Amino acid sequence: MTIDPTVSTKRLYIETVGCQMNVLDSEMVVASLRKDGYAITNDPKEADTILFNTCSVREHAEEKAYHNLFHLKQLKLQHPDKIIGVMGCMAQKDQKAIFDRVPYVDLVVGPGQLQQIPSLLKKISAGEGQQMAVSLDRKEGTAEDIRRSHETFDPLRDPEMRPSPGQAYIRIQIGCDKFCTYCIVPLTRGPEQGRSPAHIIAEAKVLADQGCKEITLLGQTVNSYRYRDAGKTTRLCDLLVELNEIDGIERIKFVTNYPKDMTRDLLEAVRDLPKCSRYFHVPAQSGSDSVLKRMKRGYTTGDYYEMMDRILEIIPDATVASDFIVGFCGETEEEFQGTMELVRRCRFKNSFIFQYSERTGTKGAEIYADDVPEEVKKRRNHDLLEVQNAICLEDNLPFLGRTVEVLVEGPSKWSLRKHQEGPVIQMTGRTRCDRIVVWDGNPRQIGQLLNVHVDDVSAFTLLGSVETFEVTPDVFPLSLSSSRR
Ligand code: SAH
Ligand code: SF4
Ligand code: F3S
Repeated sequence: MTIDPTVSTKRLYIETVGCQMNVLDSEMVVASLRKDGYAITNDPKEADTILFNTCSVREHAEEKAYHNLFHLKQLKLQHPDKIIGVMGCMAQKDQKAIFDRVPYVDLVVGPGQLQQIPSLLKKISAGEGQQMAVSLDRKEGTAEDIRRSHETFDPLRDPEMRPSPGQAYIRIQIGCDKFCTYCIVPLTRGPEQGRSPAHIIAEAKVLADQGCKEITLLGQTVNSYRYRDAGKTTRLCDLLVELNEIDGIERIKFVTNYPKDMTRDLLEAVRDLPKCSRYFHVPAQSGSDSVLKRMKRGYTTGDYYEMMDRILEIIPDATVASDFIVGFCGETEEEFQGTMELVRRCRFKNSFIFQYSERTGTKGAEIYADDVPEEVKKRRNHDLLEVQNAICLEDNLPFLGRTVEVLVEGPSKWSLRKHQEGPVIQMTGRTRCDRIVVWDGNPRQIGQLLNVHVDDVSAFTLLGSVETFEVTPDVFPLSLSSSRR
C-alpha cells in the first residue's frame, strides 16, 4: 500500500476482542487508517491513536474493556494529544455513557459507523472535541432508517493486514433478527441484512488475486443469508456455487450457522462443491427443550438431532462444532443433564462453553431472573467441558498415523510465545475438517496446502511432521509472516 508522502506518519495501536466480525472490522479500520498515513505499533505508549474494538456479549468482556481504558489515565494525562477511541459493540451499546465513565475517551464509534473513523480522528486532532458516531437503536426510527444506519464497512483488502496471508474473512451478512432472549447482538449489530452477491464475489476475486487460498464467510446466522434483487433471491448455497468457481480459492468455510436453516440443499451444495470445508459450526446452546424455549431459539432438541442426522447422512465425514450457555435463567440440574446428553450423542469436534451473563436490554434480562448461582454455573461449565474434552481426544485418536492436508496459517501460539526463530519453528494450520495441526516447519510454508503426517494427538491438536513440501517463496514475502497485529 502506498503512503501519501505529504501525510506525516502517525502510529496506531489497536486491540481487538470479540468474534470474527470484530477481527474483520479491525482489519478494515486499520487498512483505511494506513491509507491515511498511519503505521501500526504494538506499544500503546508509542501510539498517537489507541483504539479498542470491543464486545458486549458477556459482562466480563465489557469489564475488561473499561479496565483497559482506566489503565490509560496516566498516559493520557502525560500526553493529552493521544487519541483514545472505543469502537465495536460496546460503543454501540453504551454510547455516551462511555464518555461519562471515562471522560478522557475522545471517540466512540459503533460497528455500523466505522467508515467515519478517519474523518472523526481528523476532527479530534483539529481540536473539535469528543466525537461519537453510532447507529440508530432498534426502536429509534423506521425499519428502513434503522437498516440504513447500520452500514457494512468492507471497502479495502490490504493483504498485509490479514492475520494470515493465505486466509481471509468475507462478510456476507450483518446484524441479526433472531433475538435469542440472552443475546445483545441484535441490539449492537442491528437488523439482519445480506450483502450483495456481486460485492461478495468481487471481493473474493480480489482476495484470490492477492494469493488468498481460504475464505471464511461471516454472518451471525450465515446460513440464513438471503439477498433479494430484481425478483431474484440469492441464498448461501447459490453463493457457494459461484465462489467455488474462483481460481486460486482452495477452501471455503462459513460461520456461524443457525440450526433451523441447515437445509438439505445447503448440505448438498457443500457435499458437491470440492472447495467447501466439511465443517459446520452450529451452536445448540442447550440440550433441554424447556431451556431452548426460554432462550427463544426456535427449535427443540429433537430438531437439532434431526439436523445432525441430516448432516451426517449427506456428508458422512462432516465435523460439527457447537456453543453452549450453562446456567441460563432457571436452568435445573435435569435441564443441564439434557445438555450433557446432547454433547455425548452429537460428539462435537469442539464446543465453546459459556456461563450465562445477564445483558441489560435483552428480553432475558427483562423477564427472567439470573438465578443460577455462580458456583453452579462454574461446576456445570467444568462438567460439560470434561465430557467434551474426552470426546475430542477419542475422536482425534483415529488420526494417528494418517496423513492430512493442512492449510498453513503461521507460527504456532507456542512458537510465538517462545519467540522461536531460525529455519525450523513450530508451525500451525488446519485440516479440511477444521482440526488444528502443529509440526516443525518453516514460515515459508505459510499459505500453502501441505500434507502432514500425524505422529501424535491431544484433545485439541494433531501433532505431525511434514513428509514433502513445495516451497514457493515468491508468493508471500517472509516479512509478512512477522507482521501480525
Ligand atoms: N450468532 C452466533 C452467536 C454469536 S454470540 C449464533 O447465533 O450462533 C457467540 C456465543 O456467545 C453464542 O453462541 C452464545 O453461546 C454465547 N452468548 C451469547 N450471549 C451470551 C450471554 N448473554 N451469556 C453467555 N454467553 C452468551
Ligand atoms: Fe445472538 Fe441468537 Fe442472533 Fe446468534 S442467532 S447473534 S445467539 S440473537
Ligand atoms: Fe461480541 Fe459484537 Fe461479536 S457483542 S460476539 S463483538 S457481534
